[in-house]
Amino acid sequence: MQELIPEAAIQRRIEELADDINRDYADVGLLYLVIVLRGGCFFGIDLAKRLKMPVRLDYIRVTSYSGDMSTGVVSLVSDIKTDIRDHPVLVIDDIVDTGFTMGWILQFLALKRPGSVRVAAFLDKPSRREYDVRLDYVGFVVPNVFVAGYGLDGLDDTMANIPRIMALGEFEGEVRVPTRQESFPSAPA
Ligand code: IMP
Ligand code: MG
Repeated sequence: MQELIPEAAIQRRIEELADDINRDYADVGLLYLVIVLRGGCFFGIDLAKRLKMPVRLDYIRVTSYSGDMSTGVVSLVSDIKTDIRDHPVLVIDDIVDTGFTMGWILQFLALKRPGSVRVAAFLDKPSRREYDVRLDYVGFVVPNVFVAGYGLDGLDDTMANIPRIMALGEFEGEVRVPTRQESFPSAPA
C-alpha cells in the first residue's frame, strides 16, 4: 500500500475545481448537486463548501460493485428526492472506472428532464473505461490500480476515512492533473 495523492494536494485541487465551477455557473441562480453515495460524499461535500452560488444538495445511491471487480450491473438503492426538472444539475462521484455506473446514472437522471447535466469526478481511471462518459470536471487522472481513501472504500470497506488517496497494489504510470481543455473541451482556454 502506498500514498498516491496527499491530503494537501486533494484540497488544493478541489479549490481549483470549485473556481472552475463558480466561473462556469456564475449566471446560475441555483445549482442542483447530486452526490453519488457512498464514495462521492467526501469529495461532494468538500466541493460544495467552496461553491459560491446557492445549491440544492441531494444524493443518489446505486450499487454496481463487488470487491474490486466491476460487474457492469447497476441498480438503484435510493433515488434523489429533489425535483430537478428544467434545472442545472451537477453529478458528483468519487471515481469513474469502467464508466458503467456514471453512464447508468446519467441515463436515469435524464428521464427526469433536467435543464442541463454535468459531471464532476474526483478521480478518473481512463485505462479501465468500457462505457464512454463525458466528464466535465476531473480532480486527478489515476493509473490502473485499485485506490482507497477520501470516501473510497478499500479492502473490507474500512478505508474511506483516510484523508488521502492510497494505492492498493503495484502499478505503472503516475497521477496527473488533467488540463481544463482535456476534461472540458468547450471550456475557455
Ligand atoms: P465503474 O462503474 O466501473 O465506473 O465504477 C464505479 C464505482 O466503482 C465507483 O463509483 C466506485 O465506487 C467504485 N470503484 C471503482 N474503482 C475503484 C477503486 O479503485 N477503488 C474504490 N472504488 C472503486
Ligand atoms: Mg462510487
